[in-house]
Amino acid sequence: MSGARAATNARVGRQRTTERIVASAGHAWSADPYADALHTGRGPLFLRRADGWLLPLDVERWCAEADAADLEVLRRCEGTVLDVGCGPGRLVAALGAQGRRALGIDVSEAAVEHTVRRGGQALLRSVFDPLPGTGGWGTALLLDGNIGIGGDPGALLERLARLLAPGGLTIVETVPYPDVDERALVHVTDAHGTPGAPFPWARLGTPALLRCARGAGWRAQEQWSTGGRSFVALRGPGATGARARPGRTTAGGAHRAG
Ligand SMILES: C[S@@+](CC[C@H](N)C(=O)[O-])C[C@H]1O[C@@H](n2cnc3c(N)ncnc32)[C@H](O)[C@@H]1O
Repeated sequence: MSGARAATNARVGRQRTTERIVASAGHAWSADPYADALHTGRGPLFLRRADGWLLPLDVERWCAEADAADLEVLRRCEGTVLDVGCGPGRLVAALGAQGRRALGIDVSEAAVEHTVRRGGQALLRSVFDPLPGTGGWGTALLLDGNIGIGGDPGALLERLARLLAPGGLTIVETVPYPDVDERALVHVTDAHGTPGAPFPWARLGTPALLRCARGAGWRAQEQWSTGGRSFVALRGPGATGARARPGRTTAGGAHRAG
């Protein structure tokens, strides 16, 4: 086989693997435990690793109104906002109420239905599917652990760089423990242990996110913590610098990222 053909086959193989992974994740998040929790507005709901370790999912907070920490994130958004993995849509609804243009995307039908019922705009799509406004979004949101989507944060950031306008902003919520840098196969499960299909997921503390983002051409603009949650604003590749906000130190603990 020629080198060129081998490289093409490898690329196609990788793409098919990604498509399979994303399809299995879509299936898992569309399955009953997640949809049921969104309908009742209550957990318990978990991501479960193969070794039995459980990560509680904050369904009650996701189904409530945007809280003070969310509003601090929304205040930093620029231009049109794409909420990746919008869940039941509290952020899209809050942005809409502020007269901002926002779209939620999610692979869960229940999540999209809830977002639309709250008055937000949402599409049943994976972030890796063709999306409207590609190359023009002002801000992408990856909150509530959504940097984990697809299990490969580098690939997700690369995808967002293509969805955003050059120099656009991505705001990522990180795990509030600095040492976390984890990739694992997980499934969504409820209190009865109802198993869904396993899918790859990632969890990153701020240092791991910054390492990954720098490697993909992103610049850390600001980091802050509030209400026990931690966030990083990343400026996308192609920034002119003109849109960069100055670094700040506030009572909420915001500072310029290194
Ligand atoms: C950890 S939950 C976060 C929920 C959410 N941010 C909220 O406000 O309720 C992850 C969300 O991402 C969605 N998701 C998973 N894979 C996705 C993908 N490839 N593209 C878009 N959304 C995805 C799930 O359906 C789920 O709603």
